[in-house]
Amino acid sequence: MKKKATVIGAGNVGATAAMRLAEKELADVVLIDVLEGVPAGKALDLAEAAPIEKHDAGIVGVTGDYSYARDSDIVIITAGIARKPGMSRDDLLATNMKIMHSVTREVAAVAPRAVLIVVSNPLDAMCHVAYEASGFPKSRVIGMAGVLDSARFRTFIAMELKVSVENTHAFVLGGHGDTMVPLPRYSNVAGIPITELLPPDRIAALVERTRTGGAEIVGLLKTGSAYYAPASAAVEMAEAILKDKKKILPCAALLTGEYGIKDLFIGVPVKLGEGGIEEVIEITLTDSEREALNRSADAVRKLVEDMKRLS
Ligand code: APR
Repeated sequence: MKKKATVIGAGNVGATAAMRLAEKELADVVLIDVLEGVPAGKALDLAEAAPIEKHDAGIVGVTGDYSYARDSDIVIITAGIARKPGMSRDDLLATNMKIMHSVTREVAAVAPRAVLIVVSNPLDAMCHVAYEASGFPKSRVIGMAGVLDSARFRTFIAMELKVSVENTHAFVLGGHGDTMVPLPRYSNVAGIPITELLPPDRIAALVERTRTGGAEIVGLLKTGSAYYAPASAAVEMAEAILKDKKKILPCAALLTGEYGIKDLFIGVPVKLGEGGIEEVIEITLTDSEREALNRSADAVRKLVEDMKRLS
C-alpha cells in the first residue's frame, strides 16, 4: 500500500523535503502551510515536474486544512518563523512554541499513528513541545539534527582528504547548536578512523566548521537559512521509517536515563524503523566526550526551562 507523508510548512525546507519524498517515490505527499496559495502552488509545480522526473507520487498542497493529513505515516514539521531583526531570542522561542504546539495538535488529531520528524528550530526545544502537544509515545517524536550535522562533517572530511563522500562516516551527538558534539573517534573514511588520517589541528578545524555550519550558510545567503541539506536529512530519516530499514542514524530522542540523561531530547544514535525510534544505541564515550554531551544537555535543559518561563 502506498505510504502517506505530510510536510507542515511549505517554505524552503518543507518544499524541498516534499520534492525529495516524491522524487524518491517514498510516499504520496501533502504540503500544509498557513499561507494562502503557496502550498497549493508549490505542490502543483512539483506535480508538473513528475512526468520529467519520472515518478507517480501524488502531491497536494493546502492552506490550514489538516483533514488532508489524515492517517499519514510520517509528518515532517518545518513550520516556524525565522528570527527577524529586533526580535529577541525569547520572542522567537515563544512564537515558534505556539506554532509547534498548534500544528502538532492538529496533526495528532487526524494522524494518531504517524511518526513525527521535527525540523523547526530551536530544534531540541521544539521536540519537547511536539512531544507534549501530540501525546505520542517517545518512539514517535524524533528531531532532525544529527543527520544534518553529521552530513556537514562528512562533507568537510571528504573535501579535506579528497575522497568520495560515500567513503565517509561521521557521528555528531548532542544538541543542535553551538554545543553539538562531533565525535572524531567514531568518524572514519572507508573504516579508517579520521584520527589516523588527519592531524589533531585539522580535525579541530573541521569540527569547528561543522559546529558553525548553519551560521556559515546564513552568512552567505543573508536572507534565510540552509535548506537543501536539512531537507535531505529529514527525508533520510523518513525513508528509514517508511521502508522499515532499521537504520542507525543520529537523531534527537527523548532520553530516559540513557547516557545518564533524563527527560531531555538530545542527539544520540538511534535505530529507525516503522515504529520510529526502535532503540537508543549507547556507545562508549571518553570522559571528555561525556563532559561535552553533558554540557550540551545543560544547554537544552536551559531552553526547556526558558520555555516553561515563557508559557
Ligand atoms: N502552520 C503551518 N505553517 C506555518 C505556520 C503554521 N502555524 N507558521 C508558519 N508556517 C510556515 C511559513 O508560512 C513558512 O512557509 O512555515 C514555513 C517556514 O518556511 P521558511 O520561512 O522558508 O523556513 P525554512 O527555511 O523552510 O525553515 C523552516 O526549519 O531548519 C529549520 O530553522 C529552520 O525553523 C526553521 C524551519
